[in-house]
Amino acid sequence: MEKPENQILVIFGASGDLTKRKLLPSLFGLHLRGLLPDKFRILGAARTEMSAEEYRKLRRDDIVRYDKPSEEDAKRLDSFMELVDYIHFNTDDSKQYKTLADKIKQLQDECGIDDNVLFYLSMPPGIFDYVTESLKESGLNKSKNGFRRIVIEKPFGTDLESAKKLSRELGSIFRENEIYRIDHYLGKETVQNILVLRFANGIFEPLWNRNYIDSIEICAYETLGIENRGAYYESSGALRDMVQNHLMHLMAFIAMECPPNFDAESLRNEIVKVFKSLKPLSSDEIKKHVFRGQYGEGVVDGQKVAAYVGEKNVAPDSHTETFVAMKFFIDNWRWNGVPFYFYTGKRMAEKKSEVTINFKTPPQRLFPGMCDGPSCNKLTLRIQPDESIALKFGMKTPGAGFDVTQVAMDFKYSSLSEVRLPDAYERLLLDAMSGDSTLYARSDALEASWKFVTPIMERWKKDGKKGLQIYAAGSQGTKEAVDMMMEHSAAFCPLPVRTLRYMPEKKEGEK
Ligand code: BG6
Repeated sequence: MEKPENQILVIFGASGDLTKRKLLPSLFGLHLRGLLPDKFRILGAARTEMSAEEYRKLRRDDIVRYDKPSEEDAKRLDSFMELVDYIHFNTDDSKQYKTLADKIKQLQDECGIDDNVLFYLSMPPGIFDYVTESLKESGLNKSKNGFRRIVIEKPFGTDLESAKKLSRELGSIFRENEIYRIDHYLGKETVQNILVLRFANGIFEPLWNRNYIDSIEICAYETLGIENRGAYYESSGALRDMVQNHLMHLMAFIAMECPPNFDAESLRNEIVKVFKSLKPLSSDEIKKHVFRGQYGEGVVDGQKVAAYVGEKNVAPDSHTETFVAMKFFIDNWRWNGVPFYFYTGKRMAEKKSEVTINFKTPPQRLFPGMCDGPSCNKLTLRIQPDESIALKFGMKTPGAGFDVTQVAMDFKYSSLSEVRLPDAYERLLLDAMSGDSTLYARSDALEASWKFVTPIMERWKKDGKKGLQIYAAGSQGTKEAVDMMMEHSAAFCPLPVRTLRYMPEKKEGEK
C-alpha cells in the first residue's frame, strides 16, 4: 500500500473526545503499520492554553488508556508523539487564523513539507461555517503548489434546507473533491465487505432482487445511553443521529447496482441513485410505518440505568426519540415491492449492528418442520460486534423421516486470527490523507437522504409527544416496533438454529 503524500494534518477540536478516543489512536495505528507519510506533522488546535509538550503528554496517556497498545507497540509511542504539535487556538477569533497560517508555514519549512494541508473539523456543527469562512479569509483554503482538503463530521445540516445551505457555503470555499464528509460506518471493514460479498462472488447477485428476496432488515442497537451528549442529542435524536447517515449508507451498499468501476465517482453515483429511488413516505405512511420511542428507566447489562429524561442536559419533558423503527420501499426495477426495515436505538438489550436478508419461502411445504415465513433462508451480515456472515437454511434431521432442522453456515472474522480489523477512523483518515473520497459522502447523496427523512421530522414536530412511546432500557424497543419485527422477522424464528461450521475444527495435534 502506498503512503500518502507529505502533508500537515490540522485537527480543530484537538482536546475533544473524538480526537482523544479515535483520531490520535487511529493515527498511531497508521504509524505502527508504516502508513503515515514520510514527512508528516499533526497540528492539534484547541482553546486550552498549554504547551506542545503538555499536549503530547496528555494525548500519549489517552492513547494508552483508549487504545491499550501491546508492550511492543507502546515502544513506538515516543516516535509517534514526535509528529504531534499543538497550537492554542480560538476558532471564533478571526485574528488567530493568521497565527495558524504562520505555524503551518513554520512546520512546513522545518520538515520540508510541501503546501499540502488536511483540515479535520472535529467540532460542533454550529461553528463549521465560521471556521471555513475564516479559513477562506486568511487564504488557508488555497494551496500554492499542493493540496487542501477538509474533513467534516456529521451532522451535515439538520434538515434538507440546512444541508443545502451548508453545501452551498462549503462549496464556495472548497471544491467538492476537497471536501470529505465522514460517515464512520463506511470505514468499517464489515460494511466495505458488503460490496465484496456482492460483487466479487457470482452466487449472491442472481438472487439479490425482488424475485427472491422477501424483505431486508438493517439494525444498529446500542446498550449505551447518550453518555454526556445530552445537549447534542436533544437537537438530534436517533433519526438524525443514526438513520439519516449510518443506516442509509448501509442500505445503499445493500441495495445499489454494481458500479461500472471501483472509483469514488462511480460508487457514489450508485449511492445517489439508491437514495433518489426511495419511495417518499406520505404523512399517513409515516403514521403507520415509522415508530419512535424513548428509553425509560430499566436494567442494562445488569445495571439499573436512568430514563432518557433523567440524563444530563435533557429537558424533563423532552420528546426526542432514542429509538426508531421504520418500514419503507425503494421504487426501482430491482427492489419494487420489497420492504426494507430500519431499527435503531440506545439502551437496548444488546449491542449489535446487523443486516438480514430474508429470502422468499419455497412454494410448497413438502416436509414437516419447515420454517414458516421468510425466516426460512436468511443471510445475516453481522457488522459488529462478533463480526460474521451466516447463511441459514433447513436440512434433513438425521434419522428416520424427513423432518427439517434449521442450521446455519457461518464465517467469523475472528477465525482469521492473523487479521486485525482496523478501526473505521484508521481507514478513513488514511483515505483522506491519500485523496481517496470513495468512502466519504457526496453532497448530492446527503441532500437526497435528507429529502427522504425530512418529512418524518416535520410530521413528528407537528405531533409533539403524540406517538412517542416509552420503552424500558434494556428491552427490544417499543411494542409497535416489536410487532413489526414479529410480522416478518427472522430474529423471531421459533426454531432452534444450529451452527454448521464452514470448516471442520481441527482436533489437537492434527495438521
Ligand atoms: C455516532 C453517533 O455517529 O455513532 C452515536 O453519533 C453512536 O450516537 C455511534 O453511538 C455509534 O457508532 P458505532 O460504531 O458504535 O456503532
